Amino acid sequence: MKFDKVLSIETSCDDTSIAIVKSDGFVLAQSSANQDLYHKDYGGIVPEIAGRNHSIQLLPLIESCLQKANLEWSDIPGIAVTNRPGLMGSLLVGVITAKTLALAKNIPYIGINHLEGHLLAPFLCDDRYKPPSGFNYPYVALAVSGGHSQIYLVKGFGEYQILGKTIDDAAGEAFDKFAKMVGLGFPGGAIVDKMAKEGDIKKYNYPRPMIKDKTINMSFSGLKAAAKRQIEKLSIAEIKSECVHLCASYQEAIVDVLIAKLNLAVNQVGAISGVVLTGGVSANSRLRNRAEEWASQNNLTLAVPPIRYCTDNAAMIGYAGVQRLNLGEFSEQSLAPSPKVYPGDFHV
Ligand code: KG4
Ligand code: ZN
Repeated sequence: MKFDKVLSIETSCDDTSIAIVKSDGFVLAQSSANQDLYHKDYGGIVPEIAGRNHSIQLLPLIESCLQKANLEWSDIPGIAVTNRPGLMGSLLVGVITAKTLALAKNIPYIGINHLEGHLLAPFLCDDRYKPPSGFNYPYVALAVSGGHSQIYLVKGFGEYQILGKTIDDAAGEAFDKFAKMVGLGFPGGAIVDKMAKEGDIKKYNYPRPMIKDKTINMSFSGLKAAAKRQIEKLSIAEIKSECVHLCASYQEAIVDVLIAKLNLAVNQVGAISGVVLTGGVSANSRLRNRAEEWASQNNLTLAVPPIRYCTDNAAMIGYAGVQRLNLGEFSEQSLAPSPKVYPGDFHV
C-alpha cells in the first residue's frame, strides 16, 4: 500500500480541523478549532468570519497536529482536503492550503466530498474508540447536522445511495432556529437537548411533518413554523417558565420523525444489519437513546461514532482520502472548491 497515512484538512463550514489518519482508519492525531464564539452574536454562521478564522487557524493547527502525532512533513506521503460541498470562502482556504502544501512538499493530494467523510466516520478508530464488532457494508446511515439531513444506503466504499433527505430545513437548523425563538442562543441544539431532559415531552403537541409519508424524505420547516406561532402567543415570562417543556416536546417531534424515517429506510432496503448515526445532531442524547432502543428491538447494530468524529472533523476526510489515494486517484492543481456535491458522488 503506497499511502500508509495522510494529513487531512476540513474547512467546509465553521470548524477548522486537521488530522493524520492511517490507511486502516486509525487516527494518529486530530487538532480542531471551533468558531461558535465568533458567530453566536449573529445567530448563525457568517461566511466571511468563518473563512477569515480558517485562514488564521489552519497553519498553527497543522503544526500542532504533526507535533501531537510526533511526525515530520517527510513522514506524510499525501494530503486529503474537503473541496465540496460547503461555504465557498471556507472551502477555498482549505483547498488553496492543500494544493500549496502538495506542490511545496512534492506529494499528491485529493479533494474529498465532505458527506463521504461523514459516512465513513463509523470506521475510524483510535485509542478510545473502535467500531462495533462485525460492523460492515452495507449499512444505512442517518447524517444530520446544521447543514444536512439525509439517509443513505452505504453499499461499499464509494457506493453511496441517497434514500431520502429533508425537502427544506436540516434537523440541526430546526434545533437552532427553535433555540433562537426561545432565547437560548446559537448554535442551540445542545442547549435544547440539556433543557429537554427536565421537560415533559407530551406537554405541547407539535406536528411530525411527513411522518406518514411513504417516502424517506423529511421536512422540518412546518414544525418550525408551528413552534413560532405557538411561542408568539406566550409572554417572555411564560417562555422562560415553560422552556424545558417546550424544548422536550419540540425535540421529541424531531426525534420521532428521524426514527420513523430510519425505520422506513431499513424496512425498504431489507437485509441490513448495521445503522449509523452521524453529524452534529447525532450528539442529541434523546436521539441516541431512542435510536439504541429501536436498534435493539430490531436486531440491528448501531454505530454512533464519538462526538469528535460525528461533528465536522478532518479524520473522516483523511480516511476517505487515504483510501482514494490508494486506489490511484488524486487531484490536479486545477481543483476548485464547489458549494455542491458532484453529479456522480451519489446515486439517487
Ligand atoms: O456537524 P455539525 O457540527 O456542523 C454542521 O452543521 O455541519 O452540526 C452542528 C449542528 C448544529 O445545528 C447544532 O445545533 C447541532 O448540530 N447539535 C445538536 C446537538 N449538538 C449539536 N442538536 C441537537 N442536540 C445536540 N446535543
Ligand atoms: Zn458535516
